[in-house]
Amino acid sequence: MGSASYKVKVPGSLMLFGEHAVLHSKLAMVAAIDRYIEVTLTLRSDRLINIVSPNFGEHSLLLDKFKISKRYSYVLMAIKQYLPQIKCGFDLTIAAEFSSTIGFGSSAAVTVATLAVLERWLVGGVLGRHKLYRLALRVIRSIQGFGSGADVAASVFGGVIAYKMAPTLICKLNVKPPLVAIYSGKKVATAKVVEIVEKKRQKMPRVFAALYQAMDLCTRRVIAAINKKNYLLVGQLMDVHQGLQDALGVSNSVLSALIFSLRNMSGIYGAKISGAGLGDCIIGLGKVRRKIFPQNEEQKKNGVKQFDVNVSSRGIIYL
Ligand code: MEV
Repeated sequence: MGSASYKVKVPGSLMLFGEHAVLHSKLAMVAAIDRYIEVTLTLRSDRLINIVSPNFGEHSLLLDKFKISKRYSYVLMAIKQYLPQIKCGFDLTIAAEFSSTIGFGSSAAVTVATLAVLERWLVGGVLGRHKLYRLALRVIRSIQGFGSGADVAASVFGGVIAYKMAPTLICKLNVKPPLVAIYSGKKVATAKVVEIVEKKRQKMPRVFAALYQAMDLCTRRVIAAINKKNYLLVGQLMDVHQGLQDALGVSNSVLSALIFSLRNMSGIYGAKISGAGLGDCIIGLGKVRRKIFPQNEEQKKNGVKQFDVNVSSRGIIYL
């Protein structure tokens, strides 16, 4: 008889609106996408915790010498939440359909997935979605020091979500906008970008408050427009929102060049940075008919990559 095992699949996510402003309790919009992380927990007869993923390699530790290391920090912090209940070792296999450097919310997705398999094993049931969201957000904040939880909400609930951090608002919208994501070839840690923005905000708090307020207004307008499938208006608001992100100082020449060329493509209504900025992905509303990016040798060399993503209407899936 094989060892008992528990498996879940969790979607990654893309921020659509409200980046940075969301950390100041403004409205944001986030989408779960059809790129998933699958986590399988298989019980062992010894006391070894063995974490394996093709991207990050193997990390083994004894249950009795449990400690959080930098590699797999989110996974280990998720395990720590259940430590008193864990009586034997296990293998935790992480299979991701996307790299952790691309900006598809991998930390949130892997945290949600790890907590969910542990709950299944140790408590025997399925953690309610709001509880899972709160627990995963706590894990992320204890590692990163902050986090709006928008990516966590997308991974747990799926679909396109109107989101507010405090007071918490998670409102799933019944829409599936067409999206394309272009990876810029470079990853800058979200924590680093948030720190840069925060330093600027402290120098001009009233200006930044006005920018965040304008982002909030944009997102509000987008919710009304997207519900009516008015993509023309949503695209225009995307461009306006990009202007505000630029004003925060999170754009650069590479991202701007990608955004302007994507906006020129037929079938694209608007384009902007997705996520913290200074790297990661840009997104466009609409579909391009074929693989356009990388457009030249330089982009190819720099690792620019096009992802034709779809909204995943499902959040966490128990397999
Ligand atoms: C990062 O994808 C978006 C930020 O608003 C941070 C967060 O929401 O936690 C910059």
